[in-house]
Amino acid sequence: MESKKESNFQKIIAHAKEYGFIYPSSDIYDGLSAVYDYGPTGCELKKNIKDYWWKSMTQMHQNIVGIDAAIFMHPTTWKASGHVDNFSDPMIDNKDSQKRYRVDHLIENYSSELEQKGLEKEARDLINLMDLHLKNEDFSALKALILSHNIKCQVSNTCNWTDIRQFNLMFKTEIGSVAEEANTLYLRPETAQGIFVNFLNVQKSSRLKLPFGIAQIGKAFRNEIVARQFIFRMREFEQMEMQFFIPPGTQKKWFEYWKETRLNWHLSLGTPHSKYQYKPHVKLAHYADAAVDIEFEFPFGFKEVEGIHSRTDYDLSRHQEFSKKKMTYFDPETNQHFIPYVIETSIGLDRMFLAILSQAYTEEPVPKEDGSTEERIVLKLPTKLAPYKLAIFPLTKKDGLPEIAQTIYKECQTSFYCFYEEKDSIGKRYRRQDAIGTPCCVTIDHQSKEDQTVTIRHRDTMLQERVAIKDLKMLINSYL
Ligand code: GAP
Repeated sequence: MESKKESNFQKIIAHAKEYGFIYPSSDIYDGLSAVYDYGPTGCELKKNIKDYWWKSMTQMHQNIVGIDAAIFMHPTTWKASGHVDNFSDPMIDNKDSQKRYRVDHLIENYSSELEQKGLEKEARDLINLMDLHLKNEDFSALKALILSHNIKCQVSNTCNWTDIRQFNLMFKTEIGSVAEEANTLYLRPETAQGIFVNFLNVQKSSRLKLPFGIAQIGKAFRNEIVARQFIFRMREFEQMEMQFFIPPGTQKKWFEYWKETRLNWHLSLGTPHSKYQYKPHVKLAHYADAAVDIEFEFPFGFKEVEGIHSRTDYDLSRHQEFSKKKMTYFDPETNQHFIPYVIETSIGLDRMFLAILSQAYTEEPVPKEDGSTEERIVLKLPTKLAPYKLAIFPLTKKDGLPEIAQTIYKECQTSFYCFYEEKDSIGKRYRRQDAIGTPCCVTIDHQSKEDQTVTIRHRDTMLQERVAIKDLKMLINSYL
């Protein structure tokens, strides 16, 4: 079962490259670990996911506005936010292979192996103990746990482990042209701080009253030690975050509200409920008083795609302390000044992309004319996320059919993305569009010249019907 899932995952990765969704970064130089580039179809799908999130957060909420803050921020930001001191993972090195592991990943992998051997209770007990030691930051107990289970390095196959140490995940760089004058900067490890430092600028310039939110989409960078699982854990990735500012004391209510609202957003894309689950955090981040992950069932199991965090007034208070600038909000109704509390929703765009891609990837048998079957690969993407909405095919390259097809293309391209192709048989052209998830294809044939109709073929059902050319644009728009 596991190896079937794993081979399915490998097929998805190969498919993503072959059809222009995702390539390893700097591919000609053999790639850069945990860094990826999005190709022509990939960047459209990614942009559509972004737009769908952005609209649902800003356009659909009267009290949420967007910003686009710079990646570089004043270095004190990261001191205030706690990232300089706390943004680290416990790591352990194998002395023989020199390979470094995140302690939780090392133990979780071993626990999965126990599960596969049918030792479910032992696997559960191990994870419970790990969670307890992580919560208490008891590194010697964690190391003892690794040794007592004889957990080995995958490379050297030995248990020759170092002590466990914290490893900071922020990338450093320098600003300034002369080395002596250069100041250390960090590449932001989350977009959230760009929102916190702009809290009063936005509140005043947009004349906002609590509760209100600020949304942002942008790049974040983390020097992940164990970078694996394709675009699930990257060193350069994108986040879609929203900080919702509220009066102190209302955080429980708003935490529940955003927990539910965000899960509903995922479900609104048509993914079955069974593919999602909540996972409350055992070890809370340094800024949170409650936190829950929304997990998606990836080909390698249920894993976090989004986090909902009740961040208290931690960030604004710390920025007030470090910047010596007031971060308080004046409530005209109660005549009080206070620092708002914050509920954060934070989703990884690339992880969402992977969730959508793995959910959409389908291999299915299709009947051939001679009664046998063949397999087709189809991406059953939600129509609003598909890179192209309509593919337009003249049946032949002559008899005036390309001219009609081009007229349809020009008419539709102003409303949605269209794909035009004249080459190969119609069957082959359908297969290519199936592989990139185009929901509808139209074929212009000789009958089109007589009665101004075309054949529309639907991706998921493969059913075909004739529609009037004049109705085509309206029909596709109705699917959107
Ligand atoms: N501002 C809060 C924050 O950054 P997080 O749980 O560390 O919280 C939020 O990250 C989301 O960002 C995660 O749910 C995940 O989807 C995404 N994410 C985090 N690290 C990532 C990585 N290395 N690669 C891809 N996505 C990542």
